[in-house]
Amino acid sequence: EPVLRDLAAAHGIYYGTAVTASKLNGTYATVAAQQFDSLTPGNEMKWGSVEPVRGDFRWSGADAVVDFAEAHGQKVRGHTLVWHSQLPSWVENGSWTADGLRAVVADHIATEAGRYKGRIDHWDVVNEPFNEDGTRRQSVFQRVLGDGYVAEAFRAARAADPAAKLYLNDYNVEGINAKSDAMYNLVRSLKAQGVPIDGVGLQAHLIVGQVPSTLRANIQRFADLGVDVAVTELDIRMTLPATDAKLAQQKADYKAVTQACLAVARCAGVTVWGFTDSDSWIPDFFEGQGAATPYDENYRPKPAYYGIAEALGWT
Ligand code: G3I
Repeated sequence: EPVLRDLAAAHGIYYGTAVTASKLNGTYATVAAQQFDSLTPGNEMKWGSVEPVRGDFRWSGADAVVDFAEAHGQKVRGHTLVWHSQLPSWVENGSWTADGLRAVVADHIATEAGRYKGRIDHWDVVNEPFNEDGTRRQSVFQRVLGDGYVAEAFRAARAADPAAKLYLNDYNVEGINAKSDAMYNLVRSLKAQGVPIDGVGLQAHLIVGQVPSTLRANIQRFADLGVDVAVTELDIRMTLPATDAKLAQQKADYKAVTQACLAVARCAGVTVWGFTDSDSWIPDFFEGQGAATPYDENYRPKPAYYGIAEALGWT
């Protein structure tokens, strides 16, 4: 069997996976450790997970992922500091003044990024700030703090963990479109203002047969702005049941995404959003769809897994 982390390392990129802390034992843990050299906690570092009640911190899930990664020579992508979703209700529904929310966000970033200082390779500092048309999503942060909350978050993250690479992350920005244009313009403007942004994350929650034809060119244009790029949440869903034809197309799609990253020197690596169909958000969120990851529900490698390996030079 090919080992994705070794194949990726030979090309100077990482191959990562999102994991669920409570599942890190048995075969799940074995595959995660053997095949991947970067882990992202799927939910455990989100604000609602770490501080569900103001001042009441729950670090056990996040700690478990970071400890597991260190024990297995893996990097960690911290996910995520400022996001409109999975917020505790005390943040989402608080009646904030700008100064009040600004202080709470700064404290959250200092506390969480500070706790893991020196142990996180990448932080998704701001997640999903855009609407599909490229305007700003009207999150509590946008409504109360205005456009500047993004720059403030990056500055706070840099102060809390100077060694971590700081990323702006979003979905439906894999190809060149209105949303990725907005992301491009924001990154350019942040760089021009001296805001400490190091990278752009393309989530890549894709559909079988629909890898954007402009993926490589889009990665390249961000690289040309002077930031790294990572594919941060790759999965490629299909309408169930999975057939041989759909699985073959999915193999080609995983291969194409991996090749697009390899083609651009500043593409740092790829993370799959769950490595097994038994640990994927897709069936819960898209009725009748699934089979989106490289391993089946019994941890058997699917054609998609071999597509990744082939892109990484395995024959
Ligand atoms: O923990 C509770 C459990 O106690 C309860 O019994 C169960 C019943 O529904 O829910 C569990 O919480 C779920 C949680 O995942 C942990 O499994 C939430 O309902 C569910 O909404 C949550 O979904 C997560 C989703 O983000 C929320 O938006 C997915 O696991 C997670 O994979 C997904 O990840 C996001 C990225 O962070 C950002 N980009 C998009 C991506 C996919 O939505």
